[in-house]
Amino acid sequence: MRFRPLRSAPPSGEPLPVPDPPETMRAAAFDAPGGADALHEASIGVPKPVMSELLVRVVAAGVNPIDAKTRGGAGVSGEIPAYPSVPGFDVSGIVVKAPYESHPFPPGTEVFGMLSYPRTGGAYAEYAVIPTLSVARKPTSLSHVEAAGVPLAALTAWGLVVETAHAHEGQRILIHAASGGVGHFAVQLAAYFGAHVTATGSTRNASWLRELGAASVIDYTTTRFEDAVSEVDVVIDLVGNTHADTGTRSLTALRPGGLYIIVPTGSFPGYAEAAAAAGVRATSYKVIPDGGALATVGRLLDSGAVQVYIDRVFDLADAAEAHAELEKGHTRGKIVLRVSDD
Ligand SMILES: NC(=O)c1ccc[n+]([C@@H]2O[C@H](COP(=O)([O-])OP(=O)(O)OC[C@H]3O[C@@H](n4cnc5c(N)ncnc54)[C@H](OP(=O)(O)O)[C@@H]3O)[C@@H](O)[C@H]2O)c1
Repeated sequence: MRFRPLRSAPPSGEPLPVPDPPETMRAAAFDAPGGADALHEASIGVPKPVMSELLVRVVAAGVNPIDAKTRGGAGVSGEIPAYPSVPGFDVSGIVVKAPYESHPFPPGTEVFGMLSYPRTGGAYAEYAVIPTLSVARKPTSLSHVEAAGVPLAALTAWGLVVETAHAHEGQRILIHAASGGVGHFAVQLAAYFGAHVTATGSTRNASWLRELGAASVIDYTTTRFEDAVSEVDVVIDLVGNTHADTGTRSLTALRPGGLYIIVPTGSFPGYAEAAAAAGVRATSYKVIPDGGALATVGRLLDSGAVQVYIDRVFDLADAAEAHAELEKGHTRGKIVLRVSDD
């Protein structure tokens, strides 16, 4: 397989005409930490890009557990500089302002990416600023709603499966919460690179997880996974000890020297000591908003090797409802907010 460069050259010809942004915009925001109903519609100033950032008109915004955790006073809420705060890291939309004329993503370019301004999100809004290094061209085969479901979850899956587990032919990987946003990408990527994937999920998701590439599925509602699988090389744990000691029990499913990866921050205090006592390696993980990796994921999506599954779509005005749905903990794939027309 021949790889093309990670970033496309600027398209020839004149950039598409893009109207200047207004001074204010619609957003979903919260004024203080609280429940899902703390989210309300707000009119706030359009953010201003600095240095190498892009200003993007958001067509759709992905919803991730970190958004809800932060809104609830956990997650990255400690970094919120001022209220009202606009959640959200995932966007798909159209570039409105680029830093310079021959920038690789000129105005009019359809992009998707993961923003980090002002470190606590800002995607649930009509406009967002996003670092150049954190975007890629939107896959042409995906709608903006589909593309918005990709960045944070797929980049996490990429970081776990490719960069941390080094997935390869014959490797045995156990993935918990395989039917969620991160999990459904992790299953597909691990299978794509030849690993033998065992996925945990509930009854209703079992056949779907096999379609995604899982060689076997363990129904966590009826079976203790450590009774059904052993001697795996890697566990990708998207649950931790927040449910039925999933983290502690995972250590017993690994071969000696195998690798345990704990993903939800703070969900398994003492995992390093417990792993050492069990004779396995362990690491935590944090997503990196890497536009180059996202461009590669975009190609896998366009080729059909990887798919994004969108469970529910809500209007921006219904962001509170979207958070309430996410917090039930049973999303299949992704929840996305539709922010504006294409
Ligand atoms: N550190 C980082 O950089 C990073 C990045 C991304 C995500 N995360 C964290 O990783 C976790 C997963 O994120 P996500 O976006 O994938 O969440 P998600 O989409 O909300 O996950 C929902 C899925 O979890 C499954 N599930 C729930 N409990 C389970 C259990 N005990 N065993 C197996 N499956 C279970 C559900 O399946 P059923 O409906 O069948 O129960 C559902 O499909 C979250 O805590 C998130 O905050 C961390």
